[in-house]
Amino acid sequence: MKRAADKGLLTVNLIDLRQFGLGPHKQVDDYQYGGGAGMVMMCEPLDNCILQLKVLKTYDQVIYLTPDGNTFDQKMANRLSLGTNLLMICGHYKGIDQRVRDMHVTMEISIGDFVLSGGELAAAVVVDAIGRLIPGVLNDETSALTDSFQDDLLAPPVYTRPADYKGYKVPEVLLSGHDARIDQWRFEESLATTRKKRPDLLDRHS
Ligand code: ADE
Repeated sequence: MKRAADKGLLTVNLIDLRQFGLGPHKQVDDYQYGGGAGMVMMCEPLDNCILQLKVLKTYDQVIYLTPDGNTFDQKMANRLSLGTNLLMICGHYKGIDQRVRDMHVTMEISIGDFVLSGGELAAAVVVDAIGRLIPGVLNDETSALTDSFQDDLLAPPVYTRPADYKGYKVPEVLLSGHDARIDQWRFEESLATTRKKRPDLLDRHS
């Protein structure tokens, strides 16, 4: 991400919601209606913050990071990497007032079936996955195309020198210099690895 930022290909602007907080204590959260443990992030600070940001930029998506969102995957990363500006809302405590979701949020993303203490780490995960897809961010621009999940397949095994390490040998085909055979081998390995570790990925096509 640092390389992306240094090259001017990606900028992350962090907004401290506290500056939109209400009253002398800059309040941003309150007890939830109906009772129950945990605070809820209030409408007004978030609404004001989002409205102000929207004056300055047009956003492709307003994303709320939440465990009840759609599970993040490579397809979402690919799609989001084509956008220009994304606004990400990181919830805390019990989450944000539902009305902010109704008014502003266009996409809800979970990074997995577990609960983090805030959305920041989830946002960082999403930014990292998206950022590396921006052309010019990776050194070898083609390498994102051969990542795991790009074809709903896991990546094949990879090897580097030496060709023989303590008797563990690199598969002969990779030393052959025969591109078509290497491509074929990699595809077959991808398929075998996926069948073994993540058969659910293959089921998506049947
Ligand atoms: N906020 C808290 N838990 C989260 C999760 N699993 N994914 C996205 N945002 C979250």
